[in-house]
Amino acid sequence: MRNLVLCFSLMAPLLGAADLAGTWHFETPGQAAPGQVGHGRQANYVFKVDGNKFTGTAFNLTSHQDVIDGAIDGNQITFQIRNEWDFSGRGPTAYKGTLNGDELTVEPAVAAPSGRGGMYPLTLKKVSNETEYKVPPAMQHKPFPPFKPVKANGLAMTPPMGWNSWNKFAGRVDDKAVREIADAMVASGMRDAGYVYINIDDTWEAPRDQSGNITTNTKFPDMKALADYVHSKGLKIGIYSSPGPLTCAQYTASYKYEEQDAKTWAAWGIDYLKYDWCSASNVYHPNEMKSAYRKMGLALLATKRPIVFSLCQYGLLDVGEWGASVGGNLWRTTGDIRDSWNSMVGIIDLQPGREKFAGPGHWNDPDMLEIGNGGMSDTEYRTHMSMWCMLAAPLLAGNDLRSMSEATKEILTNKEVIAINQDKKGVQGVRVRKEGDTEVWKKPLADGMAVALLNRGDAAAKISVKWADLGIAKKNPKVHDVWTHKDVDAPTEFTAEAPSHGVVVVTVK
Ligand code: GLA
Repeated sequence: MRNLVLCFSLMAPLLGAADLAGTWHFETPGQAAPGQVGHGRQANYVFKVDGNKFTGTAFNLTSHQDVIDGAIDGNQITFQIRNEWDFSGRGPTAYKGTLNGDELTVEPAVAAPSGRGGMYPLTLKKVSNETEYKVPPAMQHKPFPPFKPVKANGLAMTPPMGWNSWNKFAGRVDDKAVREIADAMVASGMRDAGYVYINIDDTWEAPRDQSGNITTNTKFPDMKALADYVHSKGLKIGIYSSPGPLTCAQYTASYKYEEQDAKTWAAWGIDYLKYDWCSASNVYHPNEMKSAYRKMGLALLATKRPIVFSLCQYGLLDVGEWGASVGGNLWRTTGDIRDSWNSMVGIIDLQPGREKFAGPGHWNDPDMLEIGNGGMSDTEYRTHMSMWCMLAAPLLAGNDLRSMSEATKEILTNKEVIAINQDKKGVQGVRVRKEGDTEVWKKPLADGMAVALLNRGDAAAKISVKWADLGIAKKNPKVHDVWTHKDVDAPTEFTAEAPSHGVVVVTVK
């Protein structure tokens, strides 16, 4: 009795603390249409309490992250979530919460900018007293065999060109839109300019059938028929999945079904796969990432169908060093692009240094194009196109090809700038000079060099470059502006005025 009283009096000021220990769950109702992803959004916490401090794990269907620095003050809690996959440099995120019996309300300590708070504040319910995070059995797997490089598939000898649904359509992509985009690809002259792949990104998937075959949701009634249609236009078709159990949009993905999925896609006539890490961090340790990608690289080769393999893991773990060795033809170098100048130039800044990894068959991917989506001016979109071409980047248009403006079409189909991108030498351009807001970039070509003068400033700027400084010894080279389509007289050096946020690109032969 005495012990009990003692115990009770010790615990009394920490009543909230004792209540916090355990597992907490939040889930929104599944809102999807029949045949589509059925589950809602989830958040779960497992908390382990020690006095008025706590640690734990935050997890949902696609990730698990450490809860650190937890502190309890009466019924108020504060903690941080550390994302081991965070590559933004932002560091852990602070959260706060209020404990109310078996209910816990949690929200970010700093409110998100208005309209971007997502599902916060969350009200979680206590579901058990379990204080340890355990990987669910369905998410456990055997160790990978020792790593051996995958044989190159011989595809993408120049950077892949095409279209991808995500930037414009996100979850709204469907069979009808894809067919119409294929039609527009031909009618707009984009196919003739070199664009080939029509890539369906996330949200085509539905749960597996009884034999474990991946199925399509109601937006895509017959993927084989769709592939046939796209092929009938002289184009190729791409699809999307994840090495994890779920895609980034939380649809069924390829974990433990890699070979079977590759066979299904090959049978449908798929020519390109974007394989997006997403929930794989929930089932694989970071040091298994390479093997998880290799597994699909091998599965695609085993189908004997030529399928371009696009890695999407946001540039983690120096992917350039090993992307080609897992069979990858291209790999994302950063997080997702947004349709804004700052996002676009922010991505450009993360490319220098990666040029050594690019070459025929294997490319750095600074993400898909936003040209024509409305968030940038035509001058800025010209810069976007020019710099992606200088970088030997994959050119995957991300706009609605059915309704693009003449200006957008001209930017996307400029054959002279595309020729820089598709140059056979396959060298990624480098920044040779940066002075304040002005930059000079060069890209060696099979015959000569491409030079870009980039002005990131708010006013027009004159930029000069001496050919000798770029290693061009010959006087009087043939200089041609790929945007005005005119030859330029520049015997030993070149000076041009680039508009604010604009670029001047010439070839020098
Ligand atoms: C990630 C990728 C995007 C897109 C979405 C789809 O965010 O980086 O390019 O594929 O997933 O859910």
